[in-house]
Amino acid sequence: MGSGRFGRRDRSQGAVTVLGMAQRTNTLVPGTYPRLLTLGAVSFVGSLCEAGLLVVMARIALAATDDTEHFEVLPGTGWRVTVATAILIALGFVIAKVAVGLVLARISSSTSTRALTVIRQTLLRSYLGASWHVQAVERQGELQDVMTTQADKAAKVVMTLSAFVTAALNVATFVVISIFANVFAAIVIVVAGASLAASLRPLSARGRRTSHRELAAGRTFASAISELVGTTRELRVFGTGPQALERMEGLNDHQAGLIRRTRFLTMLGPTLYQASALLLLICGIGLLTTVTRSSIAAIGAVMLLLLRALTYGQQTQSLFQALNELSPSLDHVSRRIELYQGSPVTSGDTPVASIRQLELEDVSFEYLPDRPVLRGVSGTIEAGEAIGIIGPSGSGKSTLLQILLRLREPTAGRFLANGVDTRDLAQADWYGRVAFVPQDPHLIEGTVAENIAFYRDMPLARVHEAAAMAHLAEEIEALPHGYDEIIGPEDTSLSGGQQQRLTIARALAGRPDLLVLDEPTSALDMRSEARLQDTLRSLRGRMTLLVVAHRLTTIAECDRIMVLANGAVQGFDRPEQLALSSDFYDEALRLSVLHQSPAGTA
Ligand SMILES: Nc1ncnc2c1ncn2[C@@H]1O[C@H](COP(=O)(O)OP(=O)(O)OP(=O)(O)O)[C@@H](O)[C@H]1O
Ligand SMILES: [Mg+2]
Repeated sequence: MGSGRFGRRDRSQGAVTVLGMAQRTNTLVPGTYPRLLTLGAVSFVGSLCEAGLLVVMARIALAATDDTEHFEVLPGTGWRVTVATAILIALGFVIAKVAVGLVLARISSSTSTRALTVIRQTLLRSYLGASWHVQAVERQGELQDVMTTQADKAAKVVMTLSAFVTAALNVATFVVISIFANVFAAIVIVVAGASLAASLRPLSARGRRTSHRELAAGRTFASAISELVGTTRELRVFGTGPQALERMEGLNDHQAGLIRRTRFLTMLGPTLYQASALLLLICGIGLLTTVTRSSIAAIGAVMLLLLRALTYGQQTQSLFQALNELSPSLDHVSRRIELYQGSPVTSGDTPVASIRQLELEDVSFEYLPDRPVLRGVSGTIEAGEAIGIIGPSGSGKSTLLQILLRLREPTAGRFLANGVDTRDLAQADWYGRVAFVPQDPHLIEGTVAENIAFYRDMPLARVHEAAAMAHLAEEIEALPHGYDEIIGPEDTSLSGGQQQRLTIARALAGRPDLLVLDEPTSALDMRSEARLQDTLRSLRGRMTLLVVAHRLTTIAECDRIMVLANGAVQGFDRPEQLALSSDFYDEALRLSVLHQSPAGTA
């Protein structure tokens, strides 16, 4: 009883699946429908050729035993030919079938390749076009997984769908033609075949469920791998390699178990199908023995046709199972795209020629409802000012920088530039005028010059100028290949401090009006920090500088300092004023003096 209930539910789900999947694929890869239709039309011609061939062969076989010189080669046409002509006709069908096969291979391979390209393109574009708040929470390894494994599987759906269409059309054509050849025999075999396919449905449903779980396990594994890559040094030093290995092996085994089950179910389908099909064949032969000689040619043709139909039926069945297996990836890719596209970067249309004055007007921000991270932050920053932002960890400094960079919008209040709400400004213009130096430098695979230009089209002179401003030119020229030295994300030919100054050069190459730095010195030794301070000092007055730092030495040269505490501005003033008004600054000052005194450093 239970299985019957599941069987019914799964049948309706199954019916939705193929059509639904075609629909979802067409949404993901527009233009799939017309291609599938063309494919269907071409494969229909192919099945007609094959069916024709089978009917003619059955006739030839009978004619050979009958000794008749002329016989009706295609029933119902009245076209009587000799055996030799019939053989030529059969050959014609074979050639036509091969030609159709070539066309089919061409269409379906180009359709599925196009699908992969389109899916990756859509994913990339929507990810890069998504707002920062969506990009920032992307799990490590998730995008790689979606863009490679999942996109691959989603594209395979198209290939599988086209093969499914071909196989299903073959079945349908052969069945219809066999009904014309002999109604009774055909109906018996078709009914038996249909109940056979229906009885295998619960298997598909189970396969689909297992496949969903396998996909989730695969994602967890991918994330864990990228986590592992990021922490190998810690694992070595903490001696926790064996524990990490054990965890990874656990995840691996878990996924392997699910893969095994999915594959078993995928292979079980065809086996069961084959066994039942052979049973049907035996029934058919039994049927053959009960009929008169006159209908033997027809029954023979029906048998041949239905045998081929059974083969294609089996293909249809395994392709259906494969679709079940791929379905979760299609869903997953679609959902990711929806997520990215659901939160696009918004842009106003007021042009920004230059950034002069910045003003925060009662700005509040919360990541989660009712958990404010910034509360009523106000202040004005004039062009060319150097502003330091300090405050305890978690006080909202980085969040404020993200608002000042326009990576995030204030939840309440306004952020104005040149007196205009920044929401109304043209994005591209804004980002052409601001630059950012993150805490840890991210290098790209390429030359030093390419790392400074960072995908922007600029003359080499501009790259050199930026390197000089970042106090890095001499060190670059000392490299074996100078600006053409190849560096990359895992580079060791540049020190941490040099990499940090390289990201400053990258920021300066855009000749920004506003340069934002988030703890640029926190990972640097004293000498590197001193060099970076020289760089910052030389930039003073040439552009607006916003520097978040824990070390007061980094912001020693700032015109004004904003102290954030618990998301609110505790003070925003010249350093000498602030020493009187802000407890946090006063204490930080005393600590840094202590740190720099001989007793402190000893
Ligand atoms: N993406 C996020 N989602 C939810 N909460 C976040 C997110 N990013 C930061 N927070 C929370 O917002 C608060 C402020 O974080 P923020 O990174 O701005 O502090 P910070 O002053 O830069 O700290 P630190 O000096 O340690 O860098 C913290 O409580 C942090 O946990
Ligand atoms: Mg921070």
